[in-house]
Amino acid sequence: MGRNLGTPTGLRRSSILGRSSPLFGLSAQAKAQLIAKLSSASSVRPAERSPGRLRPEERSILTPRLDVSELDGFREIRLIREAADFLGIADPYFRVHEGIACAETLIGNQSYVNFASYNYLGLNGHPHVTGAAKAAIDRYGTTVSASRPVSGERPLHRELEQALARVHGCEDCIVRVGGHSTNVTVIGHLLGRNDVIVHDALIHNSIIQGATLSGARRVPFPHLDHQAADRLLGELRSRHGRALLVIEGHYSMDGDVPDLPGFIGAARRHRAWLMVDEAHALGVLGPRGFGTAERAGIDPGDVDIWMGTLSKSLVSCGGYIAGRRDLIDYLKLTAPGFVFSVGMAPAAAAAALAALELLEHEPERVRRLNDRAALFLQLARHSGLDVGRSIGASIVPVITGSSIRAGRLAQAMFQRGVNVQPILYPAVPERAARLRFFLTATHTEEQIRDAVRTLVEENRRVEVVPSDLAAVARHLGRLPPPPR
Ligand SMILES: Cc1ncc(COP(=O)(O)O)c(C=O)c1O
Repeated sequence: MGRNLGTPTGLRRSSILGRSSPLFGLSAQAKAQLIAKLSSASSVRPAERSPGRLRPEERSILTPRLDVSELDGFREIRLIREAADFLGIADPYFRVHEGIACAETLIGNQSYVNFASYNYLGLNGHPHVTGAAKAAIDRYGTTVSASRPVSGERPLHRELEQALARVHGCEDCIVRVGGHSTNVTVIGHLLGRNDVIVHDALIHNSIIQGATLSGARRVPFPHLDHQAADRLLGELRSRHGRALLVIEGHYSMDGDVPDLPGFIGAARRHRAWLMVDEAHALGVLGPRGFGTAERAGIDPGDVDIWMGTLSKSLVSCGGYIAGRRDLIDYLKLTAPGFVFSVGMAPAAAAAALAALELLEHEPERVRRLNDRAALFLQLARHSGLDVGRSIGASIVPVITGSSIRAGRLAQAMFQRGVNVQPILYPAVPERAARLRFFLTATHTEEQIRDAVRTLVEENRRVEVVPSDLAAVARHLGRLPPPPR
């Protein structure tokens, strides 16, 4: 087997790389022994490499070079790859798509039914979107060559911000070059050492990174539990300056949604800012796809910070914050990742704006997406598959409960012409390993029925393949130390 598996995407929590968590179902003790064995040689690295032009007296004071292979995560990736190779599970990551990935995609010159792209409304490649991007390049070039406050401002930036503010029902909006980095820079900037951040336990990695950057105390609450968030804020609030409560409008791993009024109440009672990440909600939730506020029927002003990305329904690249004018003004003048970073590329801003126009004018796309996802959910659930708490709006997980089984099932689906990504430990806890299906408005009913039928057949087959964990452990235990 040439390629193997082991570069998990979507790593949500840094702590899940901790030594106490299971690896491919191995006990914590077995895993620790294996890691120790694989590490033993890499941590002692003699300075035998040619030090180039250094003089002998300089050479004599050299210490062994610090090497990336000494990192725990590096060793763990190696273990996962070796285990996958041993089990005959091919690497499902970094597959090259040779055209526009929508309901179908081309990989290795073969066509696949695709459930691995969050092109929810099927707008990637739409002539209105590509035409706007091309016109922006013709007019402004491929970059704005400066941060916006200095000389990177172009009309498209404000037009996009105003359109996003309108859709979210907010006073104003700020757009940035990246979705992940929007969370990092904004949370890292608004909160500080004396503050507290209370967040859903399954919150996206970008929010955890932002919280870490801020230096604030970070406390997770059980997934979707607004009463727990309320209690935590009650316990912690008086000991901290400012407080931020963070949730997602539509959870990217599980396709479930929060009780928004419950979280608004918790934030209000404890004078906390409420932030809702709409990455997977815009274009998906609410009758017009305007997101969580529309779905919940609440006043958008009840949420302090709406965050979103341009890379999902809006088929571009970038992130944004929508909210009150004073918040946006403050971020535009002070947020380091905005002030000291280049403005969005013209083509990216134009593409997102054009996609937003289509969203506003063609709500039937949202209805079709929701119908297709609901059909997938219903068929999968009736077939006895574990779809967790997905509401069937655009994301449906099929939980296998083991990374080995998820890897095998995704591989079997791929061999039968269906591209779906497995989500494995450490991206999720081992028992939550899954296949994650992203639906789009352009999937046909037939594609969905065929995919679920294939899934059920392959799941039955994979379920009875024994996973000899003892053999995996023996194999890993026999591995030589990493190459020098
Ligand atoms: C909930 C959530 N927030 C933020 C991001 C980051 O967005 P982007 O991929 O556009 O950087 C993602 C990405 O998948 C996400 O799922």
